[in-house]
Amino acid sequence: MSDPILEVRNLHVNFDTHEGTAEVINGVDFTIEQGETAALVGETGCGKSVTVKSLMGLLPSATIPEGEIIYKGQNMLELSESEIHARRGREMSMIMQDPMTSLNPVLTVGEQMVDVLKWQGQPRMSLTEWLRDKLKSGSEAEYRQRAVEMLSEVEISAPERVFESYPVELSGGMRQRVLIAIALLSEPDFLIADEPGTALDVTTEEKVLDLLDELVEERDTSVLYITHDLGVAREVSDYINVMYAGEIVEQAPTADLFADPHHPYTRGLLRSIPTLATGIGEGIEGHLPDYTDPPRACRFADRCPHAEPECRETYPYPREVESDHNAACHLFDGPPAHERHVDLGAETVDIGPPPWEATDAGSESDAVADGGSQT
Ligand SMILES: Nc1ncnc2c1ncn2[C@@H]1O[C@H](COP(=O)(O)OP(=O)(O)O)[C@@H](O)[C@H]1O
Ligand code: SF4
Ligand SMILES: [Mg+2]
Repeated sequence: MSDPILEVRNLHVNFDTHEGTAEVINGVDFTIEQGETAALVGETGCGKSVTVKSLMGLLPSATIPEGEIIYKGQNMLELSESEIHARRGREMSMIMQDPMTSLNPVLTVGEQMVDVLKWQGQPRMSLTEWLRDKLKSGSEAEYRQRAVEMLSEVEISAPERVFESYPVELSGGMRQRVLIAIALLSEPDFLIADEPGTALDVTTEEKVLDLLDELVEERDTSVLYITHDLGVAREVSDYINVMYAGEIVEQAPTADLFADPHHPYTRGLLRSIPTLATGIGEGIEGHLPDYTDPPRACRFADRCPHAEPECRETYPYPREVESDHNAACHLFDGPPAHERHVDLGAETVDIGPPPWEATDAGSESDAVADGGSQT
């Protein structure tokens, strides 16, 4: 297999707030293979956007005390701002969560697309370079043509008209398509899609997701797909990373995760997927912890139905529960998934086997299968 396109290792991201330091991202590891679509899944506020913004170098107010972000073999955290800027756009691109705020309301769609074609992937220009570029003629028509082509590729039926429109004149679904078009304009190798479609109704969202799926498949783009909905992740991704409170609690190929979910949080998320029968999911009681004073050991302990005192004392390092399947929970045995936890792996914590295996294997696994089959 070729080298992964992206490897995130032991990433930590902090923010200084009035209440103190918020330790939002706490040692995150994940890998995206070339051409793969991986998902990052977890409830709102768990740190998905912070993670991906740090990959793109878009978090000026954060500090990254530890970690590596290896993109095509190079640690992004060691690059200068202008080197990151040059990669952003040309090599990596991002579709943001909210189509309204990610488009500039005072510029037409066409002006924004032409700007992207002109500027993306170029190192920041000095004023003289900018003036020289402005004086160059002849390329404007090519930019326009390329932008209009891209608008038809995202299945906008009147691309010329949309090119001349302001964002406010378009429907939500149309704006989302425009954002996809902008993100793909520079033919990036790696695309981050941060909850595209969440602002749309379900039918439009589904159409947008199908379209995106098709476009990235054609181009063999590697994708990191962000969503709070495990059902959506199942549809679009090859590999799923489940995040809770700034940590990856479980990661596995999509089929394995659904066939054999381990972590109590993943199992809760699975039960939260609405079923056809009831139309609603069960949800998980409780709230995310305060990032300025997070639990010392298991961050999920306050909401976990299986928590034991040991879970609040000893950090449940991610362990390999099966090949290419990690879970960060004391209910499971397995060698540490990451080398930095080898010492912790030596002192095992015994809180017994997963209760659902011992007692009601039938009812709980049925609930999981139900939730999964309706997505
Ligand atoms: N610039 C910031 N300053 C302080 N806290 C932030 C900042 N950006 C995000 N956070 C906090 O980080 C946490 C995770 O946010 P986010 O990554 O947006 O969650 P998600 O995308 O999973 O919904 C939230 O508690 C949020 O308030
Ligand atoms: S370590 Fe304990 S509290 Fe944390 S998820 Fe596992 S069982 Fe629950
Ligand atoms: Mg977000």
